[in-house]
Amino acid sequence: MKVLVTGRLPEQVLSLIRKEHDLTAHASDVPMDRRELLALVGDVDGLLCMITDRVDEELLAAGRNLKMIANMAVGFDNINVGAATARGIWVSNTPGVLNDATADLTFALILAVSRRVIESDAITRSGRFKPWAPFSFLGTDVTGKTLGIIGLGNIGKEVARRAHGFRMPVLYHNRRRLDPVAEQDIGVRFSDLDALLSESDYVSLHVPLTDQTRRLITGRELKLMRRTAYLINVSRGPVVDEAALVQALQSGWIAGAGLDVYENEPSLASGLAQLPNVVLLPHIGSATLETRTQMAALAAENLLAGLRGETPPNCLNCPRTLA
Ligand code: DGY
Repeated sequence: MKVLVTGRLPEQVLSLIRKEHDLTAHASDVPMDRRELLALVGDVDGLLCMITDRVDEELLAAGRNLKMIANMAVGFDNINVGAATARGIWVSNTPGVLNDATADLTFALILAVSRRVIESDAITRSGRFKPWAPFSFLGTDVTGKTLGIIGLGNIGKEVARRAHGFRMPVLYHNRRRLDPVAEQDIGVRFSDLDALLSESDYVSLHVPLTDQTRRLITGRELKLMRRTAYLINVSRGPVVDEAALVQALQSGWIAGAGLDVYENEPSLASGLAQLPNVVLLPHIGSATLETRTQMAALAAENLLAGLRGETPPNCLNCPRTLA
């Protein structure tokens, strides 16, 4: 069968696909041009795609022979899964393997924004490092502060586990409340959204992007947060109204933010990059060599299983998992 891979992946992963199929692989880190993608997808059976590829009705219609789409990401808001299902195309993602890397980066953001790490590094490099002074470069303590996690899925749970190392009480808000044994095991307390926003020193977002979570955080929610609190987002940019966030940061409604994702990546909302109280990263939550290699391998495993007619391990819409 014919397979198209739209991102630059390690040779060890590509060779697994080549063993079974006729492979066309994009060889650059610049996302595949839309027109090229629409042309190439025309005669492929399997597509291994990236979050930068929009798999919508147009693409699905162009992919006349498509049977299997393997997204190299846990998030799959770039894919119209309902439309794929209607065409009998299976879709998979890569859950699990990026939990630790993403939870680690959440704490990197929490620490960086609270302790002014980025600003201090820039000052030190530029030769503006003056002798030690008792009240310069002051940040805020992280240890013992309250962490509010919105979306206690696999990544949110890993963030909660790390928070205990910092002796942080952890509140969480979820669509479905965990059972009391699980809450006790993970060491978290359920809270309604507004209470979590007003009681947390750090509000960390770990929800998938859906119709329910788009713009979950608007000006109203930011005003509920403490003036000393920080917003951390490693989930998806459109969960936050980014223009409202800029206003909140400019007006002192909150103390700062640590962001890895943006509403219109790779563009930033006007004014965001000029703010001193934000740490801005280029969507690197899962970007470690080990994790990205595992994500690529898992995406390939899903793709190959689907094309063999087996149920892919992480199928999002196969008949067996539809119920
Ligand atoms: C994901 O997996 O959804 C991340 O955003 C990309 O690693």
